Parts: sequence; C-alpha cells; structure tokens
Amino acid sequence: MTENTSKNIKFTCRDVRVSYSGKEAVKGIDIEIADRSVTAFIGPSGCGKSSFLRVFNRMNDTIPGCAVTGDIRMDGEDIYAPGLDPVLLRARVGMVFQKPNPFPKSIYDNVAYGPRIHGLAESKADLDEIVHNSLKRAGLWDEVKDRLKDSGTGLSGGQQQRLVIARAIAVSPEVILMDEPASALDPIATAKLEVLIEELKEKFCIVIVTHSMAQAARISQKTAFFHMGDLVEYDETDQIFTNPAELRTQDYIMGRTG
Ligand SMILES: Nc1ncnc2c1ncn2[C@@H]1O[C@H](COP(=O)(O)OP(=O)(O)OP(=O)(O)O)[C@@H](O)[C@H]1O
Ligand SMILES: [Mg+2]
Repeated sequence: MTENTSKNIKFTCRDVRVSYSGKEAVKGIDIEIADRSVTAFIGPSGCGKSSFLRVFNRMNDTIPGCAVTGDIRMDGEDIYAPGLDPVLLRARVGMVFQKPNPFPKSIYDNVAYGPRIHGLAESKADLDEIVHNSLKRAGLWDEVKDRLKDSGTGLSGGQQQRLVIARAIAVSPEVILMDEPASALDPIATAKLEVLIEELKEKFCIVIVTHSMAQAARISQKTAFFHMGDLVEYDETDQIFTNPAELRTQDYIMGRTG
C-alpha cells in the first residue's frame, strides 16, 4: 500500500511559502498531491488557495512582487530549478481559471494554438486530429463540430469553459489546475463540468479550488482545508466532510466561518 501510494505521488511540497511584497500569504505548506485523482483546495476567501495553486505551474512568477520559496517537486524533479523553462512547465501543468478565457480566435484555433507553438503536429491532418480528440475529451465536440471556424468567444459560458479545458488538454499535459472553474456556470453546465473532471482524472492529476463544499465532496478524493495561509487539514475527502480532526475545519464545513 505504502509503495503504491508513493508511486502515485505527482507533487511533493516542503515548507512552501508565497509572499507579495514581503507579506506572507502562504505560510509553509507541506503536502503531497496524488496523480490520476482529484484534489480539492477549500477554505475562506483570502486564505491563499489561488496563491498556492499557482505554485504548481509557476504562474506566480508572472506577478510582480510575488516570491515563492520552499521545495516543490513534480515526479521528484525540482520545478524551480534554475535551468527549468516555466513555459515548458506550463505545457505540462495546464490551468483553467474562474472566468472562461478563450482567445478571440476560432474554436479550432483556440485548441490548435498550443500544439502549434509547441510543434506537436507534423501535418494539418495531425493537427485536425488533436483538435478533434481534445474537443471530444472535453465533451464539446458534438456541440461545435459544425462551427469550428466560429469564434470561441461566441460560445456559452459553460461551453467556453469546456473549450478552455480542450485547449489545456491539447498539449497533452500531465496536470490540470482549476481555480473555481464552475463559479461562473449554471447548474447544468456545472454538472457537465463535474462529469468531465470525473473522466479526466483517469488520465491527469487534477487540483481544483472550489468554494462549493458539495462540489468538493462530489468530485475529489482528497481535500485540503486552508485557513489564513496555513494548511489546517488534509485528508480523504470523506473524512474531511464527515469527521474532520480540526475544529477550524469543522467550523468551516458547518458554515460557522468563511
Ligand atoms: N497579486 C497579488 N498582489 C498582492 N497580494 C495578493 C495578490 N494575490 C493575492 N494576494 C493576497 O494574498 C492573500 C491570499 O490570496 P489568494 O488569492 O491566494 O486567496 P484565495 O484563497 O484564493 O481567495 P479567494 O477564495 O477569494 O479566491 C490575500 O491576502 C491576498 O490579498
Ligand atoms: Mg482564489
């Protein structure tokens, strides 16, 4: 069991800190994130969930004044090592944001963008296949197959979010980070997205920030509860929601704080 578990670890973090202009927002996190599974980050607004999520693909590097320290390894490799190219890292660790952000390009070009810049397709036929497969896996193909030349920004919010996921999948990432991906979606689009996440976890490591505890309970295997920059509790999702060890976790999931 132990051996099995350690083989299944995608990320290992030791004493990870994130600060903005010297003010610490994430205060020394130790965590291991499993591969091929969904890990949920929950906690009150401002507790550092997004700041910590951005550690995994070095998106914090793009924020002026933001500093990250500690040891962060992906498959044992230090992703903050001097020679490591963050652009290549971000192809391996994709990200989906709260607000769907398709490029102002056609549906086809949105998905083809990453494979083109990373040189993943040798021919037009190759590229067509990547676009087709990515849209299919994102659960969007049937809805858009007859209008691939239309603008991605003309889709509904839920469709845009699935388009963004197709765009992320197209470069064959290993990890998909999602920061409140359903918060702008209606219940039907949210349900579709949750089914999709359920399927994606067979292939990818998924880390999702959500304010919906029902959503965390439905889709994740492990849940991490953050509070004021600390990781208060990290356990099997069932355990967190039925029998949390910490009072602060209990108060939050019972709606007494947050
Ligand atoms: N770009 C930034 N510049 C300065 N401070 C920031 C920046 N982003 C976040 N912070 C600060 O870091 C702390 C954690 O913010 P973060 O966005 O990570 O929290 P969060 O848990 O994702 O909150 P929410 O649930 O509201 O999205 C907050 O005090 C916030 O003000
Ligand atoms: Mg956030």
